[in-house]
Amino acid sequence: MNTSIQHIAVITSGGDAPGMNAAIRAVARTASYHGLKVSGYYRGYDGLMEGDSIGMSARSVKNTLAMGGTWLKSARSEAFRTVQGRVTAAKTLQSDGVDALVVIGGDGSFRGAQALSEEHGVPVIGIPGTIDNDLYGTDHSIGFDTAVNTVMHAVDKIRDTANSHNRFFLVEVMGRDSGFIALSAAIATGGMDAILPEVEYSIDELFETVRQGAKHKKTSNIVIVAEGSTIGNPAELAQALVAEFPELDVKVSTLGHMQRGGSPSHLDRILAGRLGVGAVDGLLDGKSQVMVGLQQGQLNYVPFEKACSQGKDLNLDLLRVADILSI
Ligand code: F6P
Repeated sequence: MNTSIQHIAVITSGGDAPGMNAAIRAVARTASYHGLKVSGYYRGYDGLMEGDSIGMSARSVKNTLAMGGTWLKSARSEAFRTVQGRVTAAKTLQSDGVDALVVIGGDGSFRGAQALSEEHGVPVIGIPGTIDNDLYGTDHSIGFDTAVNTVMHAVDKIRDTANSHNRFFLVEVMGRDSGFIALSAAIATGGMDAILPEVEYSIDELFETVRQGAKHKKTSNIVIVAEGSTIGNPAELAQALVAEFPELDVKVSTLGHMQRGGSPSHLDRILAGRLGVGAVDGLLDGKSQVMVGLQQGQLNYVPFEKACSQGKDLNLDLLRVADILSI
């Protein structure tokens, strides 16, 4: 046990994700369990630079497990990208007597944490918190499962109207440059196809999907489009579809930020709990500049560099399942 760590701070950074509060709670309670002091800085690295913090205890985080968003608030900090910004943040940590930092966020947040740690020697551990699920070294990131559930419920509703009017829907889901939400949502909603940034796809293939749908007498056709689609956004795809099939009643639905909201699913709550405990245990074990993740049920620690740059592959088996089930 690293006894030089007596005070741990935690921030949530980047896009919020359901389960971030559960992760803050897990960090606070694990720190308390070990008899450590624990604080939170508001608005990610912005609050860290400004010294805007709050002391926490095991009790102060009560009733936060089921809350969506992040009560510590979050930000994508521009100032922290600069050397001066990180000098300011390191000074805050020093004057507040903070010995180590837990960052809950995605790749941008971890790159910032890496720089802070390299330049100022602060021990830092990351907890993957992003609906995009695009970090290498963890099967799922906190928020992904809830986001897919949200998409699933929304698309189920869209299917009612698609069915009633024999309509063709293009539903855009989030994920930035990755297609994890889109692929899972396509399987979970019975989508006829998914347009994913990671998989080569052409407009002709989309046309063929429409022809196949007609041939199999499908009455409600839903294609899930990842926001990182490389063959055009849903509005452009809709235009191309109508030009090719003038009889097709095409609608576009962009689900947007609703995907980031809501109470976390049981899987996200459990994941947040395990990773929060793992983050504090990791710091006390002398680990730094790593992300704690869960792979095949096992906790592991992956260097930030790898977590952010290695690139996570889509599960090919899921792709096959999506293909087979959409005939
Ligand atoms: O990283 C999470 C995410 O929701 C992405 O899926 C999306 O591309 C992006 O954040 C949207 O960011 P903002 O809320 O800043 O518009």
